[in-house]
Amino acid sequence: MAPPRIVVIGGGLMGIGIAQAFAVAGHRVCIVESVDAVRSTLLERLREGLAQTGANVDTVDRLDTSSDLGSAVAAASFVTEAVPEKLELKRQIFAELVKRAPRAAILASNTSVIQIGRIAAGLETADRIVGTHWWNPAMLIPLVEVVQAIGTSDSTIAATMAMLQSIGKKPAHVKKDLPGFVANRLQHALWREAIAMVAEGICDARTLDDCVKNSFGLRLPVLGPLENADLVGLDLTLDIHRTVIPALDRHDRPNALLEEYVAAGRLGFKSGEGFRTWTPDDIAATRLRLMHHLRRAQRERTG
Ligand SMILES: NC(=O)c1ccc[n+]([C@@H]2O[C@H](COP(=O)([O-])OP(=O)(O)OC[C@H]3O[C@@H](n4cnc5c(N)ncnc54)[C@H](O)[C@@H]3O)[C@@H](O)[C@H]2O)c1
Repeated sequence: MAPPRIVVIGGGLMGIGIAQAFAVAGHRVCIVESVDAVRSTLLERLREGLAQTGANVDTVDRLDTSSDLGSAVAAASFVTEAVPEKLELKRQIFAELVKRAPRAAILASNTSVIQIGRIAAGLETADRIVGTHWWNPAMLIPLVEVVQAIGTSDSTIAATMAMLQSIGKKPAHVKKDLPGFVANRLQHALWREAIAMVAEGICDARTLDDCVKNSFGLRLPVLGPLENADLVGLDLTLDIHRTVIPALDRHDRPNALLEEYVAAGRLGFKSGEGFRTWTPDDIAATRLRLMHHLRRAQRERTG
């Protein structure tokens, strides 16, 4: 059987990581990047990314770049789109992919929260269009959510899950195509409550993060929320929910505090000021701590 031909569209943060994950697993990968200045730095950034995540830097020999989507996908078997989170841009790319990639190729989008059905709407052969939601850094985080839109065929899901498993990822089949899929819905349910509590003065931002990191955050790598509910007992969980659920934040829009901060240019690491103040040293130390933590977790998983 011919080896799969992998193409990644978009050589930004996620495209680079996704391409690396396929290449480290032994695949040849082509990255299509439309901006010349970005494309010309891609191989160097790939080398840096490989070194940073502890992979063999020579893996870069399996990676190639292109500015021409049509010729790059002409013989592709698995294409992952990772261009900016704009629906119209993604729709244009998929319209082109449907025309230019072989009929048997699977066409995946790495959108963070856009419904796959909106990207695929009105396109032919939507049965092979699927969501594959990777997490940053794509090399080190095992989950990839495999999102089935109404038009996505079961065989596309099975082949996508198999492909991702074969490169050491932990794919999760998401059976309904809702904004945020599974993991981002959970993550942002937590962030909504966190921001609401800071906005209401229940505690400050550092205290809030410490509460998470020093309590249930420690259990999460080995105990998911539903395993945890089973562990403590569903009767206790029900009693707790009767009291606490009515007291949780239930705004159906972003918190006013978040809007106020963004309007004032308080963007977090990008501006040095967000929920907290960040010096360049704090930022570098936090990034390094995260990278070490994720690499340690990967070593534990893979032995
Ligand atoms: N950043 C994250 O943590 C994260 C996590 C999961 C998913 N995502 C999703 O992944 C996608 C990409 O995000 P990112 O953070 O890598 O963005 P990014 O801005 O870092 O990279 C996007 C790249 O696509 C290129 N591009 C734009 N139009 C193109 C075109 N027509 N053809 C080829 N290349 C083109 C841009 O020049 C850029 O280099 C988005 O949908 C985003 O929501 C991001």
